[in-house]
Amino acid sequence: MADMDSRAHGSSYTFLPGGIPAVELSAEELKDRLIVGFDSADGRSRAFNLLRTQVTKLIDAHGWKMLGVTSATPAAGKSFTSINLAAALSRAGSRTVILCDLDMRRGSVIKQMGVEVKVTLDDYLHGKRDDWREALFRVNNDRLVVLPTRAGLRDSSEMLTSARFGTLMADLRALSRDYIVLCDLPPVFANDDAMLTMSHLDAYLLIVDHGRTTARQIDESLALMAPAQCIGTVLNRYQGGLADAYGYGYGDTYGLKDYGAQA
Ligand SMILES: Nc1ncnc2c1ncn2[C@@H]1O[C@H](COP(=O)(O)OP(=O)(O)OP(=O)(O)O)[C@@H](O)[C@H]1O
Ligand SMILES: [Mg+2]
Repeated sequence: MADMDSRAHGSSYTFLPGGIPAVELSAEELKDRLIVGFDSADGRSRAFNLLRTQVTKLIDAHGWKMLGVTSATPAAGKSFTSINLAAALSRAGSRTVILCDLDMRRGSVIKQMGVEVKVTLDDYLHGKRDDWREALFRVNNDRLVVLPTRAGLRDSSEMLTSARFGTLMADLRALSRDYIVLCDLPPVFANDDAMLTMSHLDAYLLIVDHGRTTARQIDESLALMAPAQCIGTVLNRYQGGLADAYGYGYGDTYGLKDYGAQA
């Protein structure tokens, strides 16, 4: 295979290899797991469609490819937003979305999706697998690819500063503009994992948990993540204004309140 040859000579793939296993979740399973982003007929996907449109515009305008999703504190809805935004992005346009679970300590994307896998990213990072691509699977759509992580990794900082993680990031970076890499990150206040990872990414979305995240926590998160570029804040569990059945709304007209803001 041509891509194998280029790999052997030290260069990276510009596309993902074929043969990535596919998982199909039924409409019932998607509903149970709060995944609405695939179904444009579902009114609850509207918030994610709007977010998708704004994120896509910014990706095009800035030439970005690798985005993070974080929050100040745990359980703000990062994984929920990442999964649904990835699903919404995979439905429109022509790009393939790679949803990377980079919350090394509390990886939850496969759990939230209810998918069982044999290989995960941490197997590659721990040297049990030679290629991170072995962990990839597709969900419901050829253009949504997931890179899963098992929960409970204790040595996350070591993993995120390892040569293998550097290779993963370089490989993702080398992919063509036909890909969007969306990374579900840990909370900013938990440890330095989100900051370490951000140094490899182009920009990030900050999830704000309505009624729980304070203005001060937002400011401190932006400061800690600097000089990384915050694309905007997304208000989760927001009741009122432009909100949907999940109480998912926005801080301003389109949810990208801090568009272009630097901390
Ligand atoms: N808008 C929402 N409507 C309904 N349930 C939600 C909403 N946002 C999040 N949840 C649920 O709340 C829980 C926490 O959300 P999620 O796991 O996405 O948060 P997180 O920020 O990724 O947490 P962690 O910091 O542990 O990674 C999950 O069970 C998720 O399904
Ligand atoms: Mg999470």
